[in-house]
Amino acid sequence: MAFDYETLRRDISWDIAKKQLGYKDGDTINLAYVCVDRNVEQGRGEKLALVHENHEGEIRNYTYHDLQLLTNGWADFLGKQGIAPGDRVCIFLDRLPELYIGFMGVLKSGAVVQPLFSAFGEESVFQRADDSRAVAVITQHKHLGKIRKIRDRLPDLKHVIVVDHDDAKKRLREAEGEVGFDMDAHRIPEFPIFKTYAESPSVLHYTSGTTGKPKGALHVHSSIFAQLLTSKLVLDLKDDDIYWCNADPGWVTGTSYGIIGPWALGVTQVVVDAGFSSDRWYETMEKHKVTVWYTAPTAIRMLMKDGIEPVKRRDLSSLRHMCSVGEPLNPEGVHWGREAFGLDYHDTFWQTETGSIMITNLPGMPVKPGSMGRPFPALTAAVVDPITGERITEVGRVGMIAIQPPWPSMMRAYWNNTATYLKKFLNGWYICGDRASVDADGYFWFSGRDDDVINTGGHLVGPFEIESALLEHEAVAESAAIGKPDPVNMEVVKVFVALKPGFTASDDLDLSIMNFIRKRLSPLAMPQEIEFVDKLPKTRSGKIMRRLLKAKELGQEIGDTSTLDDD
Ligand code: WT7
Repeated sequence: MAFDYETLRRDISWDIAKKQLGYKDGDTINLAYVCVDRNVEQGRGEKLALVHENHEGEIRNYTYHDLQLLTNGWADFLGKQGIAPGDRVCIFLDRLPELYIGFMGVLKSGAVVQPLFSAFGEESVFQRADDSRAVAVITQHKHLGKIRKIRDRLPDLKHVIVVDHDDAKKRLREAEGEVGFDMDAHRIPEFPIFKTYAESPSVLHYTSGTTGKPKGALHVHSSIFAQLLTSKLVLDLKDDDIYWCNADPGWVTGTSYGIIGPWALGVTQVVVDAGFSSDRWYETMEKHKVTVWYTAPTAIRMLMKDGIEPVKRRDLSSLRHMCSVGEPLNPEGVHWGREAFGLDYHDTFWQTETGSIMITNLPGMPVKPGSMGRPFPALTAAVVDPITGERITEVGRVGMIAIQPPWPSMMRAYWNNTATYLKKFLNGWYICGDRASVDADGYFWFSGRDDDVINTGGHLVGPFEIESALLEHEAVAESAAIGKPDPVNMEVVKVFVALKPGFTASDDLDLSIMNFIRKRLSPLAMPQEIEFVDKLPKTRSGKIMRRLLKAKELGQEIGDTSTLDDD
């Protein structure tokens, strides 16, 4: 049957997900129950939920029944520690099974789970745990040192739970609330799952903005309606699929579609806790017979660099559907995908704040390489005028991407930051902060972000976070960070630095600044290029004009400089 978008728009609503889950307004709903226990009740107890491969290639398998016992164990343990419903519990782990299963355990206990990317340095962790007033962090020995460094500055943090603790390793500081937890040894058949409701907080994901500290997008348990329905209709997940999502759960793709969506549908998912290598990736897909794969443009460009030959050496005949998210997917990426796998990469557009896929290429829909596709059919999305918020109907005219609220996985707040939250709405629309145009067939074409946030390999980094951290470096008087176009990562961080008197530019200083940021923030935020300048361009009110630096860097028209303070 030919693809018919209009019919889908008529037939698809969030109610389909509610019906599938037997949910009626006012019922209790805990998303961990849906993702874990419900699968056991539906006869999937012996089915694999998680196939986990570590760096060395060792495999650990977990069935849905295992998940049930282990998430009960987690929730029981957290409760006994005194962690209460609504408390924020950070997860600061590499992609260990404890991350995926602990995530659900926290939710079963009624607490709010706050994922932190394990490559974060102590300052990035501090900012996020301080802002949320987290009471606990679940971590591993490898990252414990970073937590210890900031512990004094986090008075609310009472519990540091170490999942790979054994007595032979470093001693835990019990007096400071450090406690070991061996997940596999805590299997509990029954646990009273905390009764959460549609609007009970579930996941708190931080995202970067242009100014100020990272903002915590707060989600609720009923987000699962959107994650379930989009996993079904966009990722096309079916009961017998073997699904692989490349994203780390430190970022929203890795939770919404790397934990919640596939488990809501009772699908088997593969997790590989290892860095990028094209051959290892194809080996993974071949070995586990992956059928559906969710990846990102930066990864696709890295695979493209190694050519088609490594693909052709493998038997990837199981693979039937591929999606991409995080940055614009270049048309070349789509063409290469067709050549390499005989399949289309289906681009999907969404954000931490939206919680689930908003604009997308649905299975069966003709893919126009370079386009993000069309609004998910349960939603209304448009491009609107940035000033009035009026819908732009003119074909090809660029406006702001806007979504009509509400939808189940929409953030309900920025943690403790109502003013910024309210600024995301205009004329009844939620404004994403990205620009696009719509063609005559209703396809969206991305044209850029509307702020200075840097998108490096699909990860957002705030210029202000980098500039603030740089101020703590002994040689830096002031600085400005911009995203510089990069053939693989889309953008990389470039910083302009004015030095304090007595310091001079040198290769050693370059290195020292790069390492400083890598350690304090993360490898993603580390500048790939540093340019030393005498002073930075600023507005008369003292704001750094990053756009001017960027335009100069790109050799573009500099535009209006009437506010530039050039004395
Ligand atoms: C920003 C959101 C949602 C998962 C990953 C990122 C950019 C996302 C696309 C796409 C062009 C995209 C936007 C957006 N972005 N997907 N398909 N094409 N740009 O979540 O960290 O909240 O970042 O990523 O700029 O606003 P996030």
